[in-house]
Amino acid sequence: MSTVSRRDLLAGSAGVAAATLATGSCAAPSSRPARPAASAADGPADWEALRRQFRLEPGWANLALFYLASQPKRVRDAVDFLGAQVDANPLVVPTGMRLPDGPTGWPRVRRALASYIGGRAEDIAMTASTSIGLGVFYNGVRTRPGQEFLLTGYDHRAQRTAAELAAGKHGARVRPCSWFADPATATAEGIAAAVGDAIRPHTRIVGITWVQSSTGLRMPVRAVAAAVRRANEGRAPADRCLLVVDAVHGLAAVDEDAARLGADAVIAGTHKWLFGPRGTGFVWVSPEVLDQLHPTFVSFITGGGAAPLSPGGFLAFEHAFALPVAVEMHRQLGRTRVAARIAELSTRAKRGLIRIPGVTVHTPMAPELSAGITCFSMAGRTHEQIVGHAATRRVRLSASVHTRLGTAVINTPAEVDTAVGSVADLAR
Ligand SMILES: Cc1ncc(COP(=O)(O)O)c(C=O)c1O
Repeated sequence: MSTVSRRDLLAGSAGVAAATLATGSCAAPSSRPARPAASAADGPADWEALRRQFRLEPGWANLALFYLASQPKRVRDAVDFLGAQVDANPLVVPTGMRLPDGPTGWPRVRRALASYIGGRAEDIAMTASTSIGLGVFYNGVRTRPGQEFLLTGYDHRAQRTAAELAAGKHGARVRPCSWFADPATATAEGIAAAVGDAIRPHTRIVGITWVQSSTGLRMPVRAVAAAVRRANEGRAPADRCLLVVDAVHGLAAVDEDAARLGADAVIAGTHKWLFGPRGTGFVWVSPEVLDQLHPTFVSFITGGGAAPLSPGGFLAFEHAFALPVAVEMHRQLGRTRVAARIAELSTRAKRGLIRIPGVTVHTPMAPELSAGITCFSMAGRTHEQIVGHAATRRVRLSASVHTRLGTAVINTPAEVDTAVGSVADLAR
């Protein structure tokens, strides 16, 4: 058995002033609507204490944690604690694994997530990543030949590929769309109107990304959902247009209940902004459209609802079953405070970057149309040059369509300034 003590594991040092530790902290029973994630933690958070939970290489400013995240001590300890149980007696998996505060397993994991996203545990399927969740969804939707899926080039290839593979199987097609001319000047009304205009009677899925990793733009999911709802008026269930959201960069970065945005399905990995164990993720499906989805894999999670959509097999249980520890850490931090900190850091980055001659910021300045990813480019420089130059200043950035600066809750204003300084340097 691991030597990690119960106290260490539960308390960690999440860095929350006056955090009260809920032992046996399972959320409300799954038949009741879950309480939204705590947003009401009072007082300032101790972000430095939270940062100390991470083993990030000292001396480097890592502003690419949205791409591949580091894990906090609390989560690492929980994974070790559970892994020791499996190694001592692998049959503990079916008979019952425990976190220090009580039993853990799929029911607890689903309840914890439900409480965080403001939904019900039975509407959640478990996956190992966003990509797998997107495959589960697109493969699973009952689709007739001739129907179509709408996506943009800004959505991640995990979603575009899932859509193309499924469309190929069903005799459907993916129609590339555009919701805005320029992400920096996009508006919620304009995006929602473009989605509404694009939907045809044979449109089966509109796939969007809550926070686009290619532009940093946060899609106005509620407004888009309203446009999809209007298009669905009078449609039979098999003709209904479903709205699916790749939520991986909105979850634990935006102060919203993901299950209450008005989408039909919300899909996310939980190993990025939530700092969950690697190899964890989920698909939330609105109960209203569950009968429109087929499972793709055998599921080892018992029960009805969305459980049969969970790809099964004996998985990395020590990772999956430690997820409630990450959710509890965020509950203690308070989702409002986390989102505010992320917005504060990304606003600082945007304000610094737009002052640099030759730099174009592609992410909207408005906090309600952005979150923790800031995308930019520099005239006369490639993204590789910008990322490479930043590395000489011990700053980690990443690039896709544009150069990207991600502000996780554990980054600091000083790190943002160092990163912006490295860009200013290159511009001189
Ligand atoms: C928008 C978006 N969706 C999906 C993915 C893939 O996520 P996962 O590794 O959880 O499959 C990424 C990867 O960073 C992403 O940026």
